[in-house]
Amino acid sequence: MKLSRRRFDTLILGAGGAGLRASLQLAEAEARVAVVTKVFPTRSHTVAAQGGVNAALANVSPDNWHWHMYDTVKGSDYLGDQDAIEYMCRSASRVVYELEHFGVPFSRLENGRIYQRAFGGQSQNFGEGQASRTCAAADRTGHAILHSLYQQNIRAKTHFFDEFFAIDLIKDDEGVILGALVLEIATGEPLLIEAKTTLIATGGCGQLYRTNTNAHINTGDGMAMALRAGIPLQDMEFFQFHPTGIAGKGMLITEAARGEGGYLINGKGERFMERYAPNAKDLASRDVVSRAIFTEIREGLGCGPDKDHVLLKVDHLGKEVVHKRLPGIRDLSRTFLHIDPAKAPIPVFPTAHYVMGGIPSDRYGQVVVPVRNGPEEVIPGLYAAGECACVSIHGANRLGGNSLLDILVFGRSAGNRIIEYLQENRYHRQMNDAGVEKAMARLQRWDLRGEGETVDNLRTDLKQVMEEHCGVFRNEDVMQQGVAELKRLRERLPDVRLRDTSSVFNTARIEALELENLMDIAMATMMAASARKESRGAHSRVDYPDRDDINWMKHSLYYLEADRLDFKPVRTRPLSVESFPPKERVY
Ligand code: FUM
Repeated sequence: MKLSRRRFDTLILGAGGAGLRASLQLAEAEARVAVVTKVFPTRSHTVAAQGGVNAALANVSPDNWHWHMYDTVKGSDYLGDQDAIEYMCRSASRVVYELEHFGVPFSRLENGRIYQRAFGGQSQNFGEGQASRTCAAADRTGHAILHSLYQQNIRAKTHFFDEFFAIDLIKDDEGVILGALVLEIATGEPLLIEAKTTLIATGGCGQLYRTNTNAHINTGDGMAMALRAGIPLQDMEFFQFHPTGIAGKGMLITEAARGEGGYLINGKGERFMERYAPNAKDLASRDVVSRAIFTEIREGLGCGPDKDHVLLKVDHLGKEVVHKRLPGIRDLSRTFLHIDPAKAPIPVFPTAHYVMGGIPSDRYGQVVVPVRNGPEEVIPGLYAAGECACVSIHGANRLGGNSLLDILVFGRSAGNRIIEYLQENRYHRQMNDAGVEKAMARLQRWDLRGEGETVDNLRTDLKQVMEEHCGVFRNEDVMQQGVAELKRLRERLPDVRLRDTSSVFNTARIEALELENLMDIAMATMMAASARKESRGAHSRVDYPDRDDINWMKHSLYYLEADRLDFKPVRTRPLSVESFPPKERVY
């Protein structure tokens, strides 16, 4: 088959906030930049972010970046790298003001400044009282940001490959990344994109779990591509369950509902968060609130006929607040539950939301891997930003509102570092034909005909295994069974066949490729979770209920080859301020 080729300075995989912030930086510097996206850019999952983006603007409460840093380190349960966290929190005001200039329609205070609301785990003065740090466009902040970034990219002449699916990275014998093989979904034609630099910005993998807040597209494609290229995934055991997904369905009900004054009640009508987090209550960190909800339900204190959820009350806030500040969750509640939250409470349950782990990267977006007996090495030509990357700023638990900030800060810094690299690396390197053939073989495997299992069967089983064996509370036996189950699923994968092998808009083929990606990410998650013998942040083990700072202040690394695990130390030294040493984490 004749393979079409295109050449660019930079190939960006993914058109969410991280990809578009990086592409904008590059296009404005007159680099030739291509963005490959499997959906139309404004359908990327950033569009679904609701509550807002954190920056210590101090528009509503006293605030500064150092308090934000403290909250983020504490929120990460001391596993976040403090140099990267300092960099992010210091950069926050700048990236938010940039957004304002890009045209993001933030909600406004009476004095015209950007509206900021309280979110979980935010404090003033290193742990005292509540800060209001989350800059919001009602509860549709991600939507507003993504559309503005897309428009800015159109102005800057970024080249978009809309509805193209990335198959695999291509690297040469020296380990330099040369671009990627991609597939045009409309025609089924493969395309080789050669690039001096490649940025993976493909987002998360919430589709690992049956009930999740994520778009269907969040299948960990970039993370799995990195694994297949021999790059490990870091800290995959840390998967965040958002406390307030719509019960039984999963759609996100933003933390902003609690930031605006909403609260949770159990089946007895009690505000149970007072018992778990006496100071912050409903605005404790997400891991704390999710565990509290689970515990209430386990103890028979749930709501409804099956006592299988709790209720989120915002009806006391009044119609005006709900309509003005929370119009998105009003729509969701009406559409999926047929209730108006201004009049009735919303049934909620912790729901898979966000992966703190990902492709190991530094604060310039460079992908870094450990070398035996030496410092980490940068993979030449390869960058990662956003949810698919692990910088690590979120450590064991991400604070709400730090995800939009992450994609903006590190999308931008990756763009800047790529510009520097391009100035020093002016020519394309020789393409590696063997690498291209390998990627083509992976694609063509799905042309095999005959009887076999369906993609849907295997995917359903995979989600079930993840839900049952790697949820909010974990223990060794259950996770070991999970590893064994995943190995059995892996053995079934070669027997899966497509019923329809046609070329044009064959979304079944895309789902098959996504399933392959999910399988590898699931194994990374389960293996890393079973290895970490402590409880920290979102990783909560009933058999090891305590945090163990002596043995486990380290990041895990999972390699696909032989399902190998390794570890590397946490970077506890900030750039310019004193370190925040681990201490008991109470809210
Ligand atoms: O609750 C939310 O609005 C989610 C925000 C986030 O995950 O950062």
